[in-house]
Amino acid sequence: MLLGVNIDHVATLRNARGGFEPDPIAAAKICIENGADSITAHLREDRRHIKDNDINALSKISQIRLNLEMAVTDEMQKIALNIKPHSVCLVPEKRQEVTTEGGLDVAGQINKMTEFVAALLDAGIYVSLFIDPTEEQVRAAAKTGAQFIELHTGQYSNAFGSNKEEEEFLKLNEASRLAHALGLKVNAGHGLNYQNVRRMHQIGDLNELNIGHSIIARSIETGLADAVGQMKKLITR
Ligand code: PXP
Repeated sequence: MLLGVNIDHVATLRNARGGFEPDPIAAAKICIENGADSITAHLREDRRHIKDNDINALSKISQIRLNLEMAVTDEMQKIALNIKPHSVCLVPEKRQEVTTEGGLDVAGQINKMTEFVAALLDAGIYVSLFIDPTEEQVRAAAKTGAQFIELHTGQYSNAFGSNKEEEEFLKLNEASRLAHALGLKVNAGHGLNYQNVRRMHQIGDLNELNIGHSIIARSIETGLADAVGQMKKLITR
């Protein structure tokens, strides 16, 4: 399984002070140097974390395989066609949400999605659709021409350790099996952490996991000792 790291939270922290640090581009380089296979960044309509300049900079670094997460809008399509990331992951977007809440309703808008996907494929960009693990959405995704789906693991992650875990896990497993049978490659992500990620091995043939929050949170815990130590040294005579 490949690992894609979502660096949106680095940009959120940077934007809290409106300055330049922490730098999402530097963070992306560290991720790649330490085993990440790709970098995901979500350019939201309201630009609340990742900004246009970040996407431009990331797209110019040849060592970084960029997965641009974006809504199904004309504005975002134009940006994707202009910067040509390796792949895009199409997600639903609501202004008020804290993070992406559910999967895309592909089944309810197959014609629109097929047209949108086709323009991206024509430009040589791989396309992934972020969907809930249901038969209806997987079958619809397979009709759009997209090569990938990303299964929304949020419900499974929330249910992990509860009596709903098995039910949610089975949904992912069955959706993945069906998707493979229909010729799709399968990614997964949302809410995965250092505990619940282990069961992803039990799902056959997942291509890539996209993980953000838990990795950035862990990096603060593991990196804080060094950061404090360096500052202490500077102010101690
Ligand atoms: N995949 C998609 C499509 C997402 O929207 C997100 C959250 O931005 C992730 C993966 C990563 O989720 P998390 O930050 O919970 O690991």
